[in-house]
Amino acid sequence: MTQSVGLEMRDNVAILWIDNPPVNALSHHVRAGIVTGLEKASDAGAKAIVLAGKGGTFIAGADIKEFGKPLQEPGLPSVCDTIEATALPVVAAVEGNTLGGGLEVALSCHYRVANAKAKLGLPEVNLGLLPGAGGTQRLPRLLQNPVESITMVSSGRPVSGAKAAEIGLVDKTVDSGTVEAAVALANEIAEQDFENRRLSRVTLEMTDAIAAGFDAAMPTIARKAKGAIAPIRATECVRAAYEIPFNEGMKKERATFMELVVSDQSKALRHIFFAERASAKPPKDVKGDPRVVKKVGIIGAGTMGGGIAMTYAEAGIPVTVLEMTEDALDRGFATMEKNWARGIKSGRITKEGVAERMARLERTTSYDDLADCDLIVEAVFETMAIKKEVFGKLDAVAKKGAVLATNTSYLDINEIAAETSRPADVLGMHYFSPANIMPLLEIVRADETADDALLTALEMAKKTRKTPAIARVGHGFIGNRMLTPYLRQANLLVLEGASPDQVDKALTDFGWAMGPFAVSDLAGLDIGYKSRQDQKLDEHESRIYTAADRLVEAGFLGQKSGAGFYTYDPETRARSENSEATRIVSEVRSELGINTREISDEEIVERTQFALANEGAHVLGEGVAARASDIDVVYNYGYGYPRWRGGPMHYAESVGLKTVAAKISEWSDGAGGVHWTPSDLLMELAESGQSLADWDKENAS
Ligand code: 3HC
Repeated sequence: MTQSVGLEMRDNVAILWIDNPPVNALSHHVRAGIVTGLEKASDAGAKAIVLAGKGGTFIAGADIKEFGKPLQEPGLPSVCDTIEATALPVVAAVEGNTLGGGLEVALSCHYRVANAKAKLGLPEVNLGLLPGAGGTQRLPRLLQNPVESITMVSSGRPVSGAKAAEIGLVDKTVDSGTVEAAVALANEIAEQDFENRRLSRVTLEMTDAIAAGFDAAMPTIARKAKGAIAPIRATECVRAAYEIPFNEGMKKERATFMELVVSDQSKALRHIFFAERASAKPPKDVKGDPRVVKKVGIIGAGTMGGGIAMTYAEAGIPVTVLEMTEDALDRGFATMEKNWARGIKSGRITKEGVAERMARLERTTSYDDLADCDLIVEAVFETMAIKKEVFGKLDAVAKKGAVLATNTSYLDINEIAAETSRPADVLGMHYFSPANIMPLLEIVRADETADDALLTALEMAKKTRKTPAIARVGHGFIGNRMLTPYLRQANLLVLEGASPDQVDKALTDFGWAMGPFAVSDLAGLDIGYKSRQDQKLDEHESRIYTAADRLVEAGFLGQKSGAGFYTYDPETRARSENSEATRIVSEVRSELGINTREISDEEIVERTQFALANEGAHVLGEGVAARASDIDVVYNYGYGYPRWRGGPMHYAESVGLKTVAAKISEWSDGAGGVHWTPSDLLMELAESGQSLADWDKENAS
């Protein structure tokens, strides 16, 4: 036995306590401890065994850090087999997180008692895996309804203890005292025959109806997977449970698990699992505690301000929304109510829930009403002069210690902070539209931002269920800055001969949620047009956007005007080619003297993705991002990057930094060289053979 699995005798019942904080993962010493614990329990004369987790949680799964390393025996499948084959009945006391391998352990037990609030699930697909310790074989043998097994395995979504009882996953639920209830059940069944509770012995039969259920489910699973392979492979294994005997099903599951665990997809998904946890932690040099936030002020009730206000109201935090006029407030509040009301229709929220949220919102046209707010987020027009004016006013009214945040997407926050007498209280909280839905929060630490102000922003991210990533000041911070070279390449590819549709399709095939031209149409082509005019691009850069500019000048603003790069069906919003856009593009090509050529999808992917990675490496080299993995978080959570590719930096790493650097050098020496500035950091890493992951370990502050 190991220290991480303790034995406690309560009369005739042995409790094996799993104690491996913080989540009781099934690390090697835990697996070994369970096997030895079962023997010790028997030696101690127990009549039944309860398997329980310390810290109010059962087991959150296999130890993800062990994946990719040589297996140390006993492996989890064999531990589960040992539990199931034990001569004594074993009761799982399921509470807290009972996930992945944790649920597989519970399924190997002969009885399950769950806390009604416990979370039971098989989230392996989120890591590009499938349950690899019998989950795909034992779960369908326990649940009556195959649809429940298919859903749990393919979606990775957990169910509550209460729901688990409804679908037959647990024998009993309690609201408290889970371990005591498990001990009581263990006493009750100690002398009973439990042979039929060994799930490996249950025989399943494939009927026409069940086969039809699998056939019907698969296309939906494939569609929802959006290129991820694990949900499909996992469902195939569940199907096998009905088609082949348990032992053969286990072999199939194991072989599939071994194949997936070394796949690029699983590596990428594991990378992003740890990346999102790292990005939520304060930098090492930051000390202290967050400030207390009881009330939030939002300046602006437009699309961004309204979405941000909704986010805080949803988290139960009172919000005061400031606008210039009552009319603007009316419009903003009506939009928020309408957005929430959509949730009523889809069943996500109740009418009372909407009323509660609306009641948390106060409205005002006077800055004085922000005086009691602990955090004020400005979401006004993206112009330095206006932002400065707002921060000057805030400085006059905000209470001492209030955190003053700007939602700017590009501007210099040091300059904004300098407009106040308290730059230490100022930082960026950059939300993404629609702010109540999009999970990313880019937190911008300005030069003078105080530690506790930064910690407050991180704390608010947690409270409002956002995934944060910290950036330093720099035009466009992490995400928007990298978008420029990405869009530059997309537009160049069109000038050189690809159609917007080909570029979009190549990138959605790669896994992006939307292609760059569809996104531009959605955002409004006039936005980029205006920003280009404000920035006064040089000759090389403005050439690239000649077609896009001409579309705007011809009245094609994107979806809002019914057409942009594409035309949109007014009813369904289905898009099709805009022949006028095609004509404008070819007119521009001729004017610029470009001889078009066939462009491969591979070139589209390489040029756009390597442009992202190159700029990401600049961002990293300049210290705007602390870690490459933070950049990946930003792109996953804010820009629709395919999670199973890990992020633009991880993708570059998976292709090989040497290959990426060689391509970028080739392009920068070629005809389009003016559009490439190879990152020194990227070139150095490629040269030295150091990985981005190692760079992160050595350099992250
Ligand atoms: N293995 C190793 N470390 C894990 C882990 C796991 N399964 N689950 C969580 N951790 C670590 C986290 O990395 C984090 O470490 P850090 O403090 O150094 O950053 C720490 O535990 C706490 O985790 P969270 O910050 O995520 O804590 P929360 O309380 O917010 O969430 C949780 C807890 C819901 C359990 C969440 O951590 C989670 O979803 N974990 C992963 C669960 C999972 O995917 N299980 C399946 C694993 S694969 C498997 O079991 C294969 C099997 O079929 C063979």
